[in-house]
This record gives sequence, structure tokens and C-alpha cells, in this order.
Amino acid sequence: MSRYVLGVTGASGGIYATRTAMHLHRCGHDVTLIVTHPGKQVLEYEGQNALYDYCKDVCNVDEFFAECASGSAHYAGMAVVPCSMGTLGRIAVGTSDNLLVRAADVCLKERRPLVIVPREMPYNLIHIENMKRVTLAGAIVIPASPQFYSKPATIEELVDTVVAKILKHLGVEQSLVAQVARVWSKNA
Ligand SMILES: Cc1cc2nc3c(=O)[nH]c(=O)nc-3n(C[C@H](O)[C@H](O)[C@H](O)COP(=O)(O)O)c2cc1C
Repeated sequence: MSRYVLGVTGASGGIYATRTAMHLHRCGHDVTLIVTHPGKQVLEYEGQNALYDYCKDVCNVDEFFAECASGSAHYAGMAVVPCSMGTLGRIAVGTSDNLLVRAADVCLKERRPLVIVPREMPYNLIHIENMKRVTLAGAIVIPASPQFYSKPATIEELVDTVVAKILKHLGVEQSLVAQVARVWSKNA
């Protein structure tokens, strides 16, 4: 059992966060959740309040005394799902001005997996430069770009094609990746 930080921002696509938290929880891991203020509003707007049910701890984004603000607390990694262009920019320049951005900064400095799932379209050059910057700093950028070759039948199955990649890059032992891969080989 490990602990993971899940950061959720005001980008569209809260279902990616809910499914990520659900699969981490089902795999026996603890999720520490940080949601930005716009993130709370967009989650509610998109009907994703079930996210909270899968999280062991919910931290206030303005509370810097939370454990995940310190490199001394052990977390196995962090995912920012979905990641707005605003938060991407703040991580890219290291502002550490809220708990989510600070926790991401801690992951980078401690060389722990940091998965960033940006959601925007189209990208401008600032977005692309910021993705390059966080990648050079050690983050793994996994755009919210689901695949269709496994012929997902529901929105949840479609979303899980992205979630499988997130879990894989967090180093989580699970069968979701295998399930997606099995469908791929069946269709080949
Ligand atoms: C319904 C809704 C959907 C949004 N979707 C996106 C999005 O997909 N990507 C994005 O970068 N910003 C999106 N935004 C704008 C962000 O919420 C806004 O830039 C906010 O300041 C991000 O703050 P945060 O990074 O602290 O969460 C959306 C806003 C609303 C109200």
C-alpha cells in the first residue's frame, strides 16, 4: 500500500480524476486529494462529486502545513488530473503558491513521479513551452487524449484508456493497463 497525491484543477475533465482516484483506491492505495478553488467549481458543474469518496485525505489548497508540502513526508508520487494551463504554468516556473503547486514542486525536487494531465485545446506556444519545461524538470506529461483502438463502449472505458497510462507512470501495480492491452491484442 502506498500514498499518492492527486491534484485537481479547474480544467474540464473531472471524470479523469474520479476514475484515477477510484482505481488507486481499488488497488489498495491511499489518495490525498488537493482541489483548487476553480477545480471545486468545475468538479461540481461536471457532476464529479463522487471523487471525494475515493480519497482518504482531502487537503485545503491554501493549507501549507499539510504533510505533502514537505519532502520529508513519504508519498509514492503525484498526478495532476486534469491540469489547467494556469496550474501547468505555475508548476513550470515553480511558484509553489498553493498546496497543489507546492506538492508538485516537492515531487520534482525529491525525484518522485509527477504525472501532469493537461486539458486544453488548441495549445498556444506558452502551453507548449510549459509542457517542455516540466518535462525537462522530470514530470511526465500525459495529455487527456483517449485512444479508440480498444473500442471503448462507454465514457468510463474511454476515460480509463488515459487512466491506465496515468497509473502505469505512477508505478502502480494494477490490471487496468493489462485489460486495455488485452482488448488491443484481441482487435489486432
Ligand atoms: C467549465 C469550465 C471549464 C474549463 N476548462 C478548462 C480547461 O479545460 N483547461 C484550462 O486550462 N482551463 C479551463 N478552465 C479555466 C480554468 O478554470 C481557469 O483558468 C482557472 O483559473 C484555473 O485555475 P486553477 O489552475 O487554479 O485550477 C475552465 C473553466 C470553466 C468554468
